[in-house]
Amino acid sequence: VQWTAEEKAAITSVWAQVDAEANGQETLARVLIVFPWTQRYFSSFGDLSSAAAISGNAKVAAHGKKVLSALAGAVHHLDSIKHTLAKLSELHAETLHVDPQNFNLLGNCLVIVLARKLGAAFTPEVHAAWEKFLAVSCAALSKHYH
Ligand code: HEM
Repeated sequence: VQWTAEEKAAITSVWAQVDAEANGQETLARVLIVFPWTQRYFSSFGDLSSAAAISGNAKVAAHGKKVLSALAGAVHHLDSIKHTLAKLSELHAETLHVDPQNFNLLGNCLVIVLARKLGAAFTPEVHAAWEKFLAVSCAALSKHYH
């Protein structure tokens, strides 16, 4: 994948403002609330019975942070995202059996979290760079499925 200097700057400068803990929690909570069928993968996480329960669930928060920390690896290796996420692709495909469509749902929720956080600074150009970054990351995570 080819990145322009502007795209790279948009991705890394937004990432510098991301709080993996708070924004990871909000992103994963949104996935579980907005797309409730994704809860089936997290049966070990305890109470996911309502939006309030999901938003207050400590395991959701801890896991959201883990997911964003993994994405940080991709942000820091924009020219080798496939390689950077290869092990995680294998884990989600072979061990966790997560339907890869769900990666896109998480990406959509992250875009909404970033847009809310950045407000006017989340310009169409920044949004476009993030959609591209997430498409490449989701494709890398889906690599091991075929
Ligand atoms: C575990 C990353 C999307 C389901 C993990 C782990 C990471 C991760 C880093 C921990 C791996 C370990 O412990 O070695 C990501 C990234 C995603 C993503 C970067 C997308 C950008 C999803 C989605 C789902 C999902 C959309 C399901 C809807 C799971 C499950 C686990 C897991 C069930 C194991 C949780 C546990 O029992 O602790 N993921 N993930 N992941 N992921 Fe993902």
